[in-house]
Amino acid sequence: MTSKEIRSTFLEFFETRGHRIVPSAPIVVKNDPTLLFTNAGMNQFKDYFLGNRMPADKRVVDTQKCLRVSGKHNDLEEVGVDTYHHTMFEMLGNWSFGDYFKKEAIEWSWRLLTEVYRIDPDQIYVTVFEGDEKEGLPFDQEAYDEWLKWIDPERVLKGNKKDNFWEMGETGPCGPCSEIHVDCRSKEEREEFDGRNLVNEDHPQVIEIWNNVFMEFNRLKDGSLQELPQKHVDTGMGFERLVRVLQQKNSNYDTDVFSGTIEAIEKICDIGYQGGDSREDIAFRVLADHIRAVSFAIADGQLPSNTGAGYVIRRILRRAVRYYYSYLQSEYALLYRLVPLLSDQFKEVFPELDKQRDFVAKVIREEEETFLKTLEKGLKKIDEVIRHSKEKTIIDGQTAFELYDTFGFPIDLTRLIASEKGFSVDEGGFEREMQKQKERSRAATAIDTDDWVVLREGGRGEFVGYHDLLIETEVARYRKIKVKDKTKYQIVLSATPFYAESGGQVGDQGVLVFGEETIAVTDTKKENELIVHMVDKLPTDINSKLVAQVDMQKRLNTSYNHTATHLLHAALKEVLGDHVGQKGSFVSPDILRFDFSHFSKLSEEELVRINRLVNSKIRENILVETEEMPKEKALSLGATALFGEKYGDEVRVVMIDPAYSIELCGGTHVPQTGMIGVFTIVSESAVASGVRRIEALTGPAAFNYFTEKISQSKQIAELLKGSNPLKAIEDMINENHQLKKEVEKATLDKVKTLRDELAVSADDIGGINFIARKVDLDHADTVKKLAFSLKNSVDRLFLVLGADIQGKPHLSVMISDDLIKEKGFNASVIIRELAKEINGGGGGQPFFASAGGKNVEGLQRAIDKGRTLLVDS
Ligand code: ALA
Repeated sequence: MTSKEIRSTFLEFFETRGHRIVPSAPIVVKNDPTLLFTNAGMNQFKDYFLGNRMPADKRVVDTQKCLRVSGKHNDLEEVGVDTYHHTMFEMLGNWSFGDYFKKEAIEWSWRLLTEVYRIDPDQIYVTVFEGDEKEGLPFDQEAYDEWLKWIDPERVLKGNKKDNFWEMGETGPCGPCSEIHVDCRSKEEREEFDGRNLVNEDHPQVIEIWNNVFMEFNRLKDGSLQELPQKHVDTGMGFERLVRVLQQKNSNYDTDVFSGTIEAIEKICDIGYQGGDSREDIAFRVLADHIRAVSFAIADGQLPSNTGAGYVIRRILRRAVRYYYSYLQSEYALLYRLVPLLSDQFKEVFPELDKQRDFVAKVIREEEETFLKTLEKGLKKIDEVIRHSKEKTIIDGQTAFELYDTFGFPIDLTRLIASEKGFSVDEGGFEREMQKQKERSRAATAIDTDDWVVLREGGRGEFVGYHDLLIETEVARYRKIKVKDKTKYQIVLSATPFYAESGGQVGDQGVLVFGEETIAVTDTKKENELIVHMVDKLPTDINSKLVAQVDMQKRLNTSYNHTATHLLHAALKEVLGDHVGQKGSFVSPDILRFDFSHFSKLSEEELVRINRLVNSKIRENILVETEEMPKEKALSLGATALFGEKYGDEVRVVMIDPAYSIELCGGTHVPQTGMIGVFTIVSESAVASGVRRIEALTGPAAFNYFTEKISQSKQIAELLKGSNPLKAIEDMINENHQLKKEVEKATLDKVKTLRDELAVSADDIGGINFIARKVDLDHADTVKKLAFSLKNSVDRLFLVLGADIQGKPHLSVMISDDLIKEKGFNASVIIRELAKEINGGGGGQPFFASAGGKNVEGLQRAIDKGRTLLVDS
């Protein structure tokens, strides 16, 4: 079977058993503070397990893009070195939400593997949870009994908590699990050495392919386990490993999932892939793996950057660049050339990449090129350190860390280069710096969160704020959090008018009024499906009724900006073309920011057209209609959906004249565009390769902006005493230019006069023309000009010049080249000596050096000292 057939067989097998096929969630996670990336198929269903949300279907099946490069599940170091770990991989999964349990899950997994995929039962081992006394968890007898219906008891192994109790993260849904392992060794090898002993032992041929988790608990912050309201099944099968088993390959990279990419790299680098353990082979695997993670993350909206999820993507990309630069002898960007191939390969299952292939390739290329530049700089940095260290033959920990952190040099590369030059690396120092950084980043992101205190089960804070900005409600749950050592609280209400930050729109602010007591809501955020209100303190009586009231003016201003953002998006498409896609947006009460894909700077004329179009749509006073409808219908109407957003089956559609703008959007809007009043673009800039940013103002903020600009113009006009301002400024610039020229000429004349005067004043000290003088010049540059001019006109010159430059002393020393050779004079040594007299310091070259200082009084002494030095020499 091809990998495509293997994937569709899985989906269809469960579809015929009552499962609904759902799309993969985006690889980049939003609205879950415990995760940066999707690391398991179950992430998008977390709230179903916890009971925070009810699923529309009790049985679903999918293939999910996962990334395991940060947090609890991190495989990065293994990738490429072995043949079966990946950064991005597909996880095939089937789920039961409070529906079937162990019996069906086990039977179906057995039947699929042995009857449909036809894996030899003699190659299969399964594990069940042996129990854990400390946790008070029993042996999973039920799973064990179910397995015995299908498989030889010899092949059922008991596993401990580490392998057989699956947890999503430090907290969250978890439960005992049953893994399925396949022994891919030859029949002879299997007979010779029992595969039982190789399960979970990191053997490259005896690998886990599928995990069936029986979700029963929620791991709380305090470490305890809380029973879930219902029992669920969560399974995950590594697609690339399954394909490898079925295509009978020794390595995931030999399957048709990766072979196309490997061949393409062979062609680009003109090196053959041998499938072994050499540096080159590892590099091939690293590239074939990493390009997938990077491409799909960018397609899902995560641009490489310096922080958070963006930094993880940048690190993966740089890791790949380092591998081809060092081991495949490629000095040019090459990853981006693999994007078209990947887009074609995944067109049907993950179309988001194909739809943005040019954009993704462009972003990757620019990232590669930027890093290739620092890579070289990093190599130079090592050279420099080695050249400048006199006795030591150690690269200190801080430098090694800087190379790692700033130039993306892994420590083993630094070590290798160092050893070639007879140097070693202070590994302890490097480790200490790493540790410090880890602590820094932990401190920066660490939000220490207590468990929820639930007052009202089922209270999820239903959002009623499209229509109501003030309601009576009650606290459903709350918890304490610590952000950078400050204690704050989060509150979930039974219902809420507060809009939680999402879709680029900031969270509402406002107040919760508990009788006499008013608590300010500083922000509102979403956590999965919960709407969480941020407050600095809790009310005295948390159980009392309360009035939740949104800050209306802020909300209104935000709504102007949100509706205007839609108008702008449509205008950009109309003026620039259909390739414009939203890449980010920020809608606040004060400003709107819109990032979009477009390859060149917008011209003034384009900006004017966009501004005009948006404002004419405002004046048309179009009705803004919102409607809930099935996603398919919305898309068929031509609604703009965003890559990297997770949409349900029912979506909210915002229409501003269906012929002009239809978008899927959960944000708040004004009822009619006329309310926005006016719109104006205040800046246009680049944010990343192929991504432009527009910032704009609306309503009162735009009005204030105009008022300020007009008043500024008035003040300028007043200063210019009634003349035409543009003309007057132009005249001033010209005049300034002319004056500058005149000043330059005057200075030059002065330098010439001084030169002639000084040249004849030279003292002959032992055959050397000594000139020393305090001169009346007010720029260091002019003094320098004078010195050079004297050097050209006086032979065997020893010159000391002093000047008072706007109250600060300045010294220069100039020495003829022949004196340097003959007498061993060095201006930069002499200047340091003289500068002591003016409480200063300086340096330069043997023939010319200068110094600044603090004490003007000392200038004459410094000049005299010059004479003494020469006389004594
Ligand atoms: N959630 C389980 C895993 O990721 C299936 O292994």
